[in-house]
Amino acid sequence: MIIAANWKTYVESTARAKKLLASAKRLAVHAKQDVVLAPPAPFLGMLAAGNRSKVAFAVQDVSTETGGAHTGAVTAAAAREAGATHAIVGHSERRAAGDDNATVALKLQHILAQGMVPILCIGEHTRDDQARYLTFLREEIASAFGPLSQKERATIIIAYEPIWAIGKTAADSISPNDLTEMILYIRKALAEFLLGENVATARVLYGGSVEPGNARELAEGSGIDGFLVGHAATDVASFTALVKAVSTR
Ligand code: PGA
Repeated sequence: MIIAANWKTYVESTARAKKLLASAKRLAVHAKQDVVLAPPAPFLGMLAAGNRSKVAFAVQDVSTETGGAHTGAVTAAAAREAGATHAIVGHSERRAAGDDNATVALKLQHILAQGMVPILCIGEHTRDDQARYLTFLREEIASAFGPLSQKERATIIIAYEPIWAIGKTAADSISPNDLTEMILYIRKALAEFLLGENVATARVLYGGSVEPGNARELAEGSGIDGFLVGHAATDVASFTALVKAVSTR
């Protein structure tokens, strides 16, 4: 299992970032899970410097630009230099800010060119009776995977994050049954783009109001390979409880 912590903009102070990292390092010593932290970009270098723990680092997004004059942009190369081994791409909050599937595909290429592992977020806004949301998800996968080589495709971690479930509480999250169905569907869609054993080894995470109270039931039997956690990962007590809840699995 992978537990990726998306700190978003919840964490704005060095003191808080360091506290969260220290607790993640302690947890990672015993946890069976791989812990990946995605701090705001300005904290990446400081947190990842000299890191010898099992904790890995992700950048929350990368720019479509590389090099040159693009004030404010965080390039994949700079993020890698700062210590990121992973990069979240296509998060719904970036898509809401204007990233379409073509933008996400371009960012993916920059991430892969730097040898980082992409965590590609996909997820529907709402569900409709005609199941058009399934076609929407397949399209998100197809546009991202289509231009890539088989080797590149095989490195991508998918994070299924239904937008309607993000940033709420465990009670508003997806049900374990629905999650099981969705993971099956996503794996079927991935199988169109992956060959042989790459289908079986593809990693699919779930994100959207994962909290200590629902993590275990969502993990059990749903076929996921871990979580992308937002708000519940930005507090030492709740992140600790969450990791422990799935550790005994
Ligand atoms: P949440 O965020 O856990 O706060 O719902 C998850 C995400 O957006 O990655």
